[in-house]
Amino acid sequence: MRTVVLYGTESGRAEAVALGIAKAYPDRDIDVVNMADAAPEVFDSAALFLVACATHGGGELPGFAQFLHDDLEAAAPDLTGLRYAMFGLGDTSYQEKYNRGSKQFDALLTALGATRVGPFGEHDEISRADHVALGIAWAGEVFAAVDAS
Ligand SMILES: Cc1cc2nc3c(=O)[nH]c(=O)nc-3n(C[C@H](O)[C@H](O)[C@H](O)COP(=O)(O)O)c2cc1C
Repeated sequence: MRTVVLYGTESGRAEAVALGIAKAYPDRDIDVVNMADAAPEVFDSAALFLVACATHGGGELPGFAQFLHDDLEAAAPDLTGLRYAMFGLGDTSYQEKYNRGSKQFDALLTALGATRVGPFGEHDEISRADHVALGIAWAGEVFAAVDAS
C-alpha cells in the first residue's frame, strides 16, 4: 500500500521527521509531501497518510498547513475509507496550546470521515528528545497496526 508522509512545518523539524521515516522504511512505497505543495485532492483513500504537523504562532497551524486545512474544510470531500495517523510537534511550555495545530488537523480529517489509525504521536521540544527518532518509532507502530488490521 502506498504511504504518503504529509508534513506541515515552519522551521523544518516536521520535514526532518518525514524524510527520516521515508529513509527508515525503504521497503515501503513512501511519498513525502510538503503541505505547502498540497491541495485537498492529495487525500487519496488508496494510500495511508502519515501526517507530521507542527504548531506555531501560539496554537496555530504553520502558515501553509493552515492554507491546506482551510481549503480542505471548504472543499469538504468525503474522506470515508481514508486511513491516517497523526504526529504532532510542539512545546508543552505553550500549555493549553500544546500541539493544537496537529489536533486541529486531526479533528478536520475525522470530521470529513477519515479514520485515524495507530497512536497519536507527539514530540515535545522541551523534552529535548530526538524528534526524528521518535517519528520513526511512531511510524513503525502505525505500520504494525495497519499491517495487523
Ligand atoms: C514562534 C513559535 C510559536 C510556537 N507556538 C507553539 C504553540 O502554540 N504550541 C506548541 O505546542 N508549540 C509551539 N511552538 C513550538 C514548535 O511547535 C516546535 O518548536 C516544533 O518542533 C516546530 O516544528 P517545525 O520545525 O516543524 O516547525 C512554537 C514555536 C515557535 C518558534
